[in-house]
Amino acid sequence: MARRVLVTGGAGYIGSHTVLQLLLEGFSVVVVDNLDNSSVVAVQRVAQLAGEFGKNLAFHRVIVVSCFVTRGAETGFWFDIRDKEALEKVFATSKFDAVIHFAGLKAVGESVQKPLIYYKNNIIGTITLLEVMAAHGCKKLVFSSSATVYGWPKDLPCTEESPLCAMNPYGRTKLMIEEICRDIHHADGDWKIMLLRYFNPVGAHPSGQIGEDPCGIPNNLMPLVQQVAVGRRPTLAVFGNDYSTKDGTGVRDYIHVVDLADGHIAALQKFFEDPNIGCEVYNLGTGKGTSVLEMMAAFEKASGKKIPLVMAGRRPGDAEILYACTVKAEKELSWKAKYGIEEMCRDQWNWAAKNPWGYRSPDPPN
Ligand code: NAD
Ligand code: WQD
Repeated sequence: MARRVLVTGGAGYIGSHTVLQLLLEGFSVVVVDNLDNSSVVAVQRVAQLAGEFGKNLAFHRVIVVSCFVTRGAETGFWFDIRDKEALEKVFATSKFDAVIHFAGLKAVGESVQKPLIYYKNNIIGTITLLEVMAAHGCKKLVFSSSATVYGWPKDLPCTEESPLCAMNPYGRTKLMIEEICRDIHHADGDWKIMLLRYFNPVGAHPSGQIGEDPCGIPNNLMPLVQQVAVGRRPTLAVFGNDYSTKDGTGVRDYIHVVDLADGHIAALQKFFEDPNIGCEVYNLGTGKGTSVLEMMAAFEKASGKKIPLVMAGRRPGDAEILYACTVKAEKELSWKAKYGIEEMCRDQWNWAAKNPWGYRSPDPPN
């Protein structure tokens, strides 16, 4: 029988790519998502891309209904992981072998402005999920942590043992959830938990059918770049060109979202193959640092589009250089990123060119 996995936030950017890889690997998948930063179209496209495996995907928006929402032209059923009763019903109807927990808010700047929303959604949402999992005897969890927990690291590359120092409320929610996970494992050794610290996920599925489509103004580099490339924005602001880096711009470890999705499959497999798993932490990155200007050059080459740049000041809270040591994941999960920045930019552009307005239609002119 196919193993069954609950994916919270499975309509989102990383979630949708991971759900597709899970289906293709033969897992049966149930997605819960409140569509706060995503579209139901992503889930529909995942089911199509999965072909015959698409039948193994269920999206909880009908059986368990918290409330019905309309956002723009899009309507859908809203499912929030903080709704314990609704989660209970999902667990009562299916037995899960594991949960992958993506659901959460992720905009750093917004978290500084509205910390309580972040603590409530990310922390309360996770605690509610953990309580319901425990009550139903499902104690295998893969959690989306982030390289943000390393803050501005003194020593590079970041290893899983590097000092932790979140610099904003969003980052602190990730740190707190990591601590909660360590505590519940300490209290009850039946819990098996993978804390995956993602570096900078970019790119899209090579089909161009699914990709990143944040609601509102994007916060991250590549969604902004793709909006410039399709004419939705005039320029890209480069946040700082006076860093001590090769060209003065910030350096990050960009990782193709399909590689990242595969990292989740590797983490899940480890649960089922290694009885000694406890509460483990893994970096998911490529181990390579790329500057903003290098990324722009790679994107311009892949797209044939000129990205007009405006040099702007440093963004508060930004680290200068951040990249991962990937040895632990390679050794223990037998996982290694396959794609470089050329493929990341190629697939980012393919998605943008095919879906200039993401999953939505453009707003009609006034
Ligand atoms: P995303 O916003 O595209 O996906 C998150 C999904 O969770 C969305 O579909 C959203 O609607 C849903 N969601 C949020 N709160 C919810 C709630 N209370 N109940 C139900 N659904 C809810 O973001 P993503 O980039 O796919 O990120 C997924 C996870 O990975 C997040 O936890 C994020 O913090 C983490 N992460 C992301 C990055 C990144 O750069 N994208 C890096 C490191 C870690
Ligand atoms: C990348 C580089 C910017 C936008 C964030 C979160 C982190 C994680 C990943 C969730 C930096 C520069 C950006 C722009 C720019 N998310 N930049 N102009 O800041 O590394 O990490 O996303 O966990 O927690 O903090 O990613 O894509 O915003 O920036 O020059 O308009 O691009 O300064 O050097 P970041 P990013």
